[in-house]
Amino acid sequence: MTGFHNGRGRSRVTASTALLATAAALAVLPGCGGCTKQPEYPPNLTFPPRADRLVLKLPDKPATALNSPMKREEEIAALDALGGKTLDVSTVPTDARAKLDTFLKDTFGTPAAPLLALEGEAATRLRLSDAHLAEGAKLFRRHCLQCHNLTGDGRGTSSNTIPFPRDYRQGQFKFVSHENGKPRRADLVRTITEGLKSTPMPSFALLQEGERDLLAGYVVYLAVRGQVEFESLGAMAAGQIDDPGARVKAILAEWEKTENSPPVPVEPPGEEHGTPAHQASVKRGFTLFTAKADNSCISCHGEFGRKPVLRYDVWGTVAKPADLTQTTLKSGTRPEDVFARVRFGIPAVGMPAHPKLSDRDVWDLVRFVRSVPYRVQLPDDVRSAVYPQP
Ligand code: HEC
Ligand code: HEC
Repeated sequence: MTGFHNGRGRSRVTASTALLATAAALAVLPGCGGCTKQPEYPPNLTFPPRADRLVLKLPDKPATALNSPMKREEEIAALDALGGKTLDVSTVPTDARAKLDTFLKDTFGTPAAPLLALEGEAATRLRLSDAHLAEGAKLFRRHCLQCHNLTGDGRGTSSNTIPFPRDYRQGQFKFVSHENGKPRRADLVRTITEGLKSTPMPSFALLQEGERDLLAGYVVYLAVRGQVEFESLGAMAAGQIDDPGARVKAILAEWEKTENSPPVPVEPPGEEHGTPAHQASVKRGFTLFTAKADNSCISCHGEFGRKPVLRYDVWGTVAKPADLTQTTLKSGTRPEDVFARVRFGIPAVGMPAHPKLSDRDVWDLVRFVRSVPYRVQLPDDVRSAVYPQP
């Protein structure tokens, strides 16, 4: 657990009035030490309108340094000078903004009474009924709020950590099993159960399975709400006529597309660790990894991750390609975890998906990636390429 600053407990100096109002409303809630009933949101609390900048375009060049814990908004605002494009949402015309805020309240309700008023059938299929959401909201308030915050903007009171807690409001996630950047419910449940290794995102394995599923559903809800707000603000700032209802429909359709896509395959049997067949697979994976092509693995995971090329991610913050010589990966090292990363990429950070590789090729890459940290297990020629003598 190195490489991030844990700023737990430090309050944000730049908190907007909306955030302060939220904090005040929450502070008056009685504590719930030891009781099993979840504390609830006050009935009059509403989701504050988005006040931070939208990141519309990223700089083309690689990033030069990781983010600083206390400087999220400043570093995002600085992207414009680096060739990116951000939008100050206070420039959106007030009448259009007021209409959008009313739409969001009517369609998505409040923290105490969350709902999905449109697209009821899709909501049912995605297990996002009002009852599911209300329970999920209480659990979220208790376990996630301090980092992910009321709207899921990742700017809670304990969010001054690198990496920053995920901002769900673009509807994009990292550890997904579809190219559209949307996780399956099962992907979210896994993240919540296992946590993300070497990051501040903790494991919630001690909660009941049903509770983790409700939490995952509430994350989807915040992500849909946030994406509608994000895209509508962008459209209104560009002077386009906005139809947020059509957006809700299209976004839920994307979530359903992921949910209904074929499952990630399980590792084919018959090539156990250490067998010649396994060694041959590792070697083919090495060749694919180091191919001299644009966007090959090694072009970002320089020296197998020891010399990573930093990248801007869709949130306007900086992502560091994983050091694959280390034994941990954030989303886990099970064969199927690595398979999903290679097949579907990590679109939010620009790591490409590989829809055209055969399953065989993907498994070769998986075996190579999973073997890299264990030098004695690598075939001799691969070992000397990955770990050259000084
Ligand atoms: C101590 C702070 C903290 C708490 C508490 C916390 N998280 Fe996180 N969470 C993080 C951080 C940091 C990340 C981003 C890690 C990264 O991107 O490397 C994250 C990422 C995530 C992601 C994104 C995964 C992806 O694929 O992109 C989800 C979903 C998530 N958290 C859900 C939750 C839920 C649900 C809870 C409560 C049950 C919770 N988190 C509690 C810090 C926290
Ligand atoms: C365009 C740059 C880029 C390319 C090309 C790329 N990656 Fe990545 N990769 C990243 C970034 C950035 C991360 C870190 C994501 C994060 O943690 O925020 C990452 C993370 C990973 C992870 C760790 C996931 C985890 O759970 O922590 C694996 C495994 C991985 N990449 C494998 C590969 C393989 C194999 C290839 C080639 C098929 C590849 N990458 C190509 C940028 C890239």
